[in-house]
Amino acid sequence: MSEINLVDIIRGRRTILDYKPKKVERDLLVELLSHASYAPNHHMKEPWKLKIYEDEARSVFGEKVVDSYIRLGLLKTLNEEKLRKARKAYDRFFNSVPHHILFYMDKEDDGGYIDDENYAAICAFIQNFQLLAWEKGIGTMWTAKETLRDEVFIRDIGLNPHNQRLVAVVQVGYPNKLPKGKERTPITESMEWIQTSTIR
Ligand SMILES: Cc1cc2nc3c(=O)[nH]c(=O)nc-3n(C[C@H](O)[C@H](O)[C@H](O)COP(=O)(O)O)c2cc1C
Repeated sequence: MSEINLVDIIRGRRTILDYKPKKVERDLLVELLSHASYAPNHHMKEPWKLKIYEDEARSVFGEKVVDSYIRLGLLKTLNEEKLRKARKAYDRFFNSVPHHILFYMDKEDDGGYIDDENYAAICAFIQNFQLLAWEKGIGTMWTAKETLRDEVFIRDIGLNPHNQRLVAVVQVGYPNKLPKGKERTPITESMEWIQTSTIR
């Protein structure tokens, strides 16, 4: 790939909220995920683990997410009627996205430095995947909320919070609507060059 294309893909990617119903071919998803696994990862741990929710599993997964939002008090301002409507709206959303990919990892040192390294490697994997998908006209949305740390939710989806850590849920599908790009702050505002022997 030429440098120009890579820059265009990085700068042109958008977080997609609105998807067409068409699924991404399984072979293509596997191909993109396989390329994404060339992400840097310390000691070649390849820590990424994925669960891909499709078809009927989407509603069930969505319900468990909303149960967690309620448990965590994220929807506490809603009365019973509004909560019922919100549940329906969430269900419509979860069913409107062809694939929800949950990224998780096995814990090695219970939130210590090795776990941080593995978490970082999975983040690199996810960004690789987002860019590779975008190059094929496929949209994604990286989501992460307190739910990822909700022990009941982790058990609800068949994992063990003592042994596993959730990293992100990435929505995947062909975009229906492209949001406007969001400009970034000039990077020079966040950097400093350090060349003298005084480094503080
Ligand atoms: C760790 C992480 C968590 C995110 N969580 C959410 C989320 O819960 N909901 C959402 O709409 N977008 C989420 N995003 C996407 C950002 O909102 C999005 O990347 C940002 O607004 C910039 O837009 P762009 O991706 O289109 O450039 C998340 C992104 C990251 C990296």
